Amino acid sequence: MRDVSKRFTGLVALSHLSFELRRGEILGLIGPNGAGKTTLISLISGTLAASEGELMFDGRVLSHVHAFRRARLGIGRTFQIMHPFPGLSVLDNVAVGALFGSGGEREMRRARELARDKLEFVGLAHRASQRAESLGGPDRKRLELAKALAMRPRLLLLDEVMAGLNPVEMESVMDMIEKVRAQGVSILLTEHVMKAIRTLSDRLLVLHHGEKIAEGEPAQVLNDPRVVEAYLGRRRS
Ligand SMILES: Nc1ncnc2c1ncn2[C@@H]1O[C@H](COP(=O)(O)OP(=O)(O)OP(=O)(O)O)[C@@H](O)[C@H]1O
Ligand SMILES: [Mg+2]
Repeated sequence: MRDVSKRFTGLVALSHLSFELRRGEILGLIGPNGAGKTTLISLISGTLAASEGELMFDGRVLSHVHAFRRARLGIGRTFQIMHPFPGLSVLDNVAVGALFGSGGEREMRRARELARDKLEFVGLAHRASQRAESLGGPDRKRLELAKALAMRPRLLLLDEVMAGLNPVEMESVMDMIEKVRAQGVSILLTEHVMKAIRTLSDRLLVLHHGEKIAEGEPAQVLNDPRVVEAYLGRRRS
């Protein structure tokens, strides 16, 4: 991403952001509420258009590529605000990912096979035939993850998939993320849960008011005075 900005009416959500996400890495994306993390994910997945700047994926300029084509190219995401397709079963919600992802399954039977596989992976197979809207919060998070994985992404954008999970559920999602990475998927991981960020990330990118304030080694970045200040506020002397 080179010099990318995103303006909403009266507000600059991202300002002149440049960074790269390397093949096979987990890049942790952190920053206080409203920093621009979800906006960044939407710019990469194509659900929002950048106001300026350039996005490249695997050597290809993405700027004018529609969201559905980016999904075909292998960019998958989860949504922080979850809206499962109402009236569809859990299985078919995930099958939608298979139909519109990089595998581009055309047959419903095969899409459902892949969906079942992903539901097993996230531990939701026992709810396959339930309606998606009957799921509780933690199960909806798992559904988001399964749907994104059914897209067979090469780049997976995770927007707070651990929010609201208890420590045991969190450990199991961390485990899943490690396994996905081991399959060669590159991951942008947005979380407020620092333990997950610290354990999983190869590098960190920190946003504050739409600007990059730090990037690099997790231990170093988390000790950066600007990062500490962004999270805790300026220390009074
Ligand atoms: N569609 C929109 N229209 C106008 N302003 C928006 C829109 N989407 C986001 N914003 C604003 O842009 C800024 C960045 O929002 P964003 O959702 O990207 O933050 P975030 O880092 O994901 O925060 P959180 O940690 O709370 O999820 C915020 O000030 C938000 O209010
Ligand atoms: Mg967000």
